[in-house]
Amino acid sequence: MLSGKNILVAITGGIAAYKICELIRMYKRANANVRVIVTPNALNFVTKLTLQNLSQNEVGVEEFTLDEYRPEHISYADEADIMVVAPATANSISKFANGICDNLLTSIFCAFKKHVIIAPAMNCNMWANPIIQQNISKLSGLGYEILAPESGYLACGDVGVGRLCSLDKIFEATAKNLCMEKILSGKKIVITAGGTIEDIDPVRYISNYSSGKMGIALADVGYELGAEVTLVSTVATKQKPYKVISVKSALEMQKTVENEFLTSDCTIMAAAVADYRVKNKSEHKMKKTDENEISITLIKNPDILKSLCEKKKNQIVVGFCAESENLFENAKQKIKNKGCDYLIANDISRSDIGFSSDYNEVTILKKDGTIKKLERAEKSVIARMIFEEIYGQV
Ligand code: CTP
Repeated sequence: MLSGKNILVAITGGIAAYKICELIRMYKRANANVRVIVTPNALNFVTKLTLQNLSQNEVGVEEFTLDEYRPEHISYADEADIMVVAPATANSISKFANGICDNLLTSIFCAFKKHVIIAPAMNCNMWANPIIQQNISKLSGLGYEILAPESGYLACGDVGVGRLCSLDKIFEATAKNLCMEKILSGKKIVITAGGTIEDIDPVRYISNYSSGKMGIALADVGYELGAEVTLVSTVATKQKPYKVISVKSALEMQKTVENEFLTSDCTIMAAAVADYRVKNKSEHKMKKTDENEISITLIKNPDILKSLCEKKKNQIVVGFCAESENLFENAKQKIKNKGCDYLIANDISRSDIGFSSDYNEVTILKKDGTIKKLERAEKSVIARMIFEEIYGQV
């Protein structure tokens, strides 16, 4: 699978460095070309000669050699298809997260444009330190793939989370990335997520139970598959490596989506848009009165999905459909009414899937009347299968 792929293995100075000798052998057995770079500290744990023999390549340590000018950080970064940092120490992680380039390895990291896998390993208290956690979240939000350390007996004698994840996991993550076809490369995909928030007054609102998880899973997977993703979301997200636009109400969402839609290849309306908003939203907090009942008048929100379908030229438009009864009848009617290319129907009466769950089970309806049922799976898996249905084999 990895035959002919160029893997750049970056080893930083932790005791788990010795394990990477075996990882290099695994890559070599899979016929990959391996180049190794190390921090000077890593050589306290594993020798240059060992790494050189295993990788069958020169090992990079110093940034510049005096006898010959070669901007190594650029050439290494250009040649490789993927960079795998293992083990990644707290020190190197913090440098990565802050753009510090004080040795060959950190400089290459900074210049590297393709996928990077980071497998941290350190003492459990260092791993738990909020500064390290913030740096990890920052890197993950920027699109770096973090393979979280595992729990167990650590070299320092402590027991806790900090041990380098298994070599199999690192190998699989490398293979997954290198073999995944970026089928959405060159496509702009707009995805909406979350329930819209319709204000009653400055402190109260009408909304719904949508967690936004399905929309976010679609955005994450779309990005992984190479798309230029824009997520229009009513729910807060962690920092993401793609464009996220925060909106609140259906009207705001409509304005943003219609704008993004113009340049999109595909728009997926996974948001739970409120059908109505408050007619006369109060500028100030509404006060309690002596009346036992009060009423609020609602007016209809625009149907964003329907209006996109009316405007669409070559764009693919995908709707979602949340039903608590008569799923198929309602979904069939809805795809006709809205005029979208695909409708992803889910049954919100079940507590083991749908709203706020990490799982979903959906039925995909196509404009031509065909139907495909996807079995219960994690939302990220469902997201992948939806793209597979729209764009062919992933
Ligand atoms: N939708 C939309 N604008 C609205 C309401 C819904 O764009 N004002 C979109 C949703 O994002 C979803 C699809 O339409 O992709 C279906 O939403 P759903 O709530 O199931 O259907 P509704 O059209 O609202 O009909 P009903 O609530 O009567 O089932």
